[in-house]
Amino acid sequence: MWERLRYAVLVVTCVAFGFANCQNFNVLSFGAKGDGVTDDSEAFLKAWNAACGGGGNEQTLLIPSDNTFLLQPLVFQGPCRSPYMQVQFSGNIVAPNDKGEWSSCSSNRWIGFSWVSGLTVVGSKTRRIDGRGSSFWNNPNQGNLGGCDWPTSLHFQSCNNLNISGMTSANSPRNHISISGCEQVTISDVNLLAPEDSPNTDGIDISASSYINIVNSYIGTGDDCIAINTGCANINITGVNCGPGHGISVGSLGAKGFKETVENVQVVDCTFNRTTNGARIKTWPGGQGYARNIHFKRITVINARNPIIIDQYYTNDNQSGQASEGNSAVAISHVKFIDFEGTTSDEEAIKFNCSKITRCSDITVEKVQITTADGKLPTATCQNVNGTSLGSVPLVPCLSEL
Ligand SMILES: *[C@@H]1O[C@H](CO)[C@@H](O)[C@H](O)[C@H]1NC(C)=O
Ligand SMILES: *[C@@H]1O[C@H](CO)[C@@H](O)[C@H](O)[C@H]1NC(C)=O
Ligand SMILES: *[C@@H]1O[C@H](CO)[C@@H](O)[C@H](O)[C@H]1NC(C)=O
Ligand SMILES: *[C@@H]1O[C@H](CO)[C@@H](O)[C@H](O)[C@H]1NC(C)=O
Ligand SMILES: *[C@@H]1O[C@H](CO)[C@@H](O)[C@H](O)[C@H]1NC(C)=O
Ligand SMILES: *[C@@H]1O[C@H](CO)[C@@H](O)[C@H](O)[C@H]1NC(C)=O
Repeated sequence: MWERLRYAVLVVTCVAFGFANCQNFNVLSFGAKGDGVTDDSEAFLKAWNAACGGGGNEQTLLIPSDNTFLLQPLVFQGPCRSPYMQVQFSGNIVAPNDKGEWSSCSSNRWIGFSWVSGLTVVGSKTRRIDGRGSSFWNNPNQGNLGGCDWPTSLHFQSCNNLNISGMTSANSPRNHISISGCEQVTISDVNLLAPEDSPNTDGIDISASSYINIVNSYIGTGDDCIAINTGCANINITGVNCGPGHGISVGSLGAKGFKETVENVQVVDCTFNRTTNGARIKTWPGGQGYARNIHFKRITVINARNPIIIDQYYTNDNQSGQASEGNSAVAISHVKFIDFEGTTSDEEAIKFNCSKITRCSDITVEKVQITTADGKLPTATCQNVNGTSLGSVPLVPCLSEL
C-alpha cells in the first residue's frame, strides 16, 4: 500500500517536474502550452533532450491527448543514453498555417528523428499530425520553396530498430513518412491522408534502408502510397490499403545516369482502390544498376488505371545528356505478379515497356484476372520482356505461356 502510494507520488512528481532520472517526460512539464497557437518546439526539444540524456532503460516522451501542439521544424537528435526511446503522440500536432510562417525549410523536414536507435513511435487513431500542406501544394514552383525542398512530415534518418505504430498523419507538405538509412523498421497501423490532387505527398518513402516491414495500414494521398528508392533491400509490405494515390512503386531508379539498386521486395495482400497505378517499377533511360526479386502477390485492384506496370522509360528528359536509348538501363529481373483480381479503369491492364539494351528478364505473371470496370477484356502491351505466364487474363504477348 505505502509502496504503491510512494510510487504514485514519484510518477506524479516525475511527470510534473521532469526529473532527469525519471522515465516519462511530458512536454507540458517542459513548458509546452498545447493551445494550438503557441510555438511549442522549444519545450518539445527540452523534453526530448532530458529523455534522451536520461539513464533509464526505456525513456518516454509523452505528448498528452487533451492538447494540440504547434511545432516549427525540429529534429529529435540521437544517439541517446537509453537503449530504448519511446515517443507517444497521444495529442494533436499541427504545423504552421501557411508556408510563409515556417521558421525554416532548410532541413526539408518538419518533424525529424536522427540517429536514434531502439525508437518506438506510437500514435493514435483519433489524433493526428497535420502538416497543413495546402499552401505548399498551391505553389506553382512544385516541390521547391526558395531553394529548399518542401518538408516531409515525419523524417527518420539513420534510426535502426525503429517501430512506428498507430500514427495518423494528414496533409503533409511532401512525403508523410520518410525512412532513410535505417535498418530493422516496422511500420504498422498507420493512416496517411492527403487529397488526391496534392502533389508529391507520398505516403511512405524509403531509401537506403533494409529489413523493413510495413503492415496493416491505410494510405490515401496524391502520390505514391509507398515508394521504394535506391539502396533498399528486404522490404515486406503486407495488408496495405492504397488509394487514392499512385500505387506502390519501386523507383524511380537510375535518373541522370546514376547506378541505383533495389532488391528483395514482397508486396502481399494489398488493395489498390482507384489509384493511377498499382504495382509499379519505374526506371530512367540511361541509368545503371538493378531492380530484382520483386514480388507482388494476392493483390486486389478496384478501378486502378495501370494495375501492373514496368516502365524503363519513366522519363525522357535527358537532363544530363545520358537518357538516350543507345546507352544503358537499370536491369529489371525476377519480378512476379501473382494472384491479382479486380478491375482497371483503363483499356490497358498490364504494361511492360522495357528497353532493347537491358531487356526485362524472368518476369512472371500468374493467375492475374483483371477486367475493365464494365466487365470487358482489357489489353496487355509489352516490349523487350522475357518470362512466363500462367492462367492470366489478359494474356501478355511477350511472355511464354506455361
Ligand atoms: C519493434 O517491434 C518488433 C516486432 O513487434 C519487436 O521485435 C522489436 O523489439 C520492437 N523494437 C522496439 C525498438 O521496440
Ligand atoms: C519478408 O517475408 C519473407 C517471406 O515471408 C521472409 O522470409 C522475410 O524474412 C521477411 N522480411 C522481413 C524484413 O521481415
Ligand atoms: C474504395 O474507395 C471507395 C471510395 O473512397 C470506398 O467507398 C470503398 O469502400 C473502397 N473500397 C474498398 C474495398 O476499400
Ligand atoms: C541526350 O543528350 C545527348 C547529349 O546532349 C545527345 O547526344 C543525345 O542525342 C540525347 N538523346 C536524346 C534521346 O535526346
Ligand atoms: C515505351 O515508352 C516509349 C517512350 O516513352 C514510347 O515511345 C513507347 O511507345 C512505349 N512503348 C509501349 C509498348 O508502351
Ligand atoms: C528473350 O527473348 C528473346 C526473344 O524471344 C530471345 O531471343 C532471347 O534469347 C531471350 N533471352 C533470354 C535470356 O531468355
